[in-house]
Amino acid sequence: MEENTIISMPRIGDKAPEFKAVTTQGEINFPADYKGNWVILFSHPADFTPVCTSEFMTFASLEEKFEKANCKLVGLSVDGLYSHIAWLRTIKDKIEYKGMKDVEVKFPLIEDITMDVAKKYGMIQPGESSTKAVRAVFFVDPKGIIRAIIYYPLSLGRNFDELYRALIAMQTADEFGVATPADWNPGDDVIVSPAGSCGMAKERMDDKDLDCKDWFFCTKKLDKEKVLKAVLKK
Ligand code: BEZ
Repeated sequence: MEENTIISMPRIGDKAPEFKAVTTQGEINFPADYKGNWVILFSHPADFTPVCTSEFMTFASLEEKFEKANCKLVGLSVDGLYSHIAWLRTIKDKIEYKGMKDVEVKFPLIEDITMDVAKKYGMIQPGESSTKAVRAVFFVDPKGIIRAIIYYPLSLGRNFDELYRALIAMQTADEFGVATPADWNPGDDVIVSPAGSCGMAKERMDDKDLDCKDWFFCTKKLDKEKVLKAVLKK
């Protein structure tokens, strides 16, 4: 890739760039096909590589857990369809890793040998590689808006607990109109929006249901059951 090639980088709050693609589960029209669902769109450098294989097996074994949180998974790897099929068959038939075996990848894996989709999403970062996608994760909400983006280099496998935590935290923020502090998990206290006036600052400090460290930093309890009831499908 030329040094001065312009690489588009979607940002948080943008509409997810549209594309049609061939995948291991047939054609998809993104994000239109996923309207009403959260989606995690994630990229891999290439098929038949060890870090990617460990990640793919992990995501596949967590697919049901993400589905219960109304979230679909869509993978992308800079390789062709037949390579994808062969890789997924090898994973199912031959690879055993950390107690996972016979793992069937049921979510779509996008063929992107041309890197058209990867380039649209800023997944090709020439400082790291101009022919392989970095490990990008895009969280797209039910309205097709990008809500969070995480990028990892080629050598670093993702933390799937964190991906799930981030998904549930964003859904909780939407559902209850709160923010979530460092390392938040369901059951932990949540943050109420900062006071926007002197009067509100006083109200906050006087509110017995809040725990205010100071006027600008108030938390409140939010039951784990209430969170899970709101974000998980029955
Ligand atoms: C891997 O998935 O193992 C990998 C892919 C590209 C570069 C380095 C590692």
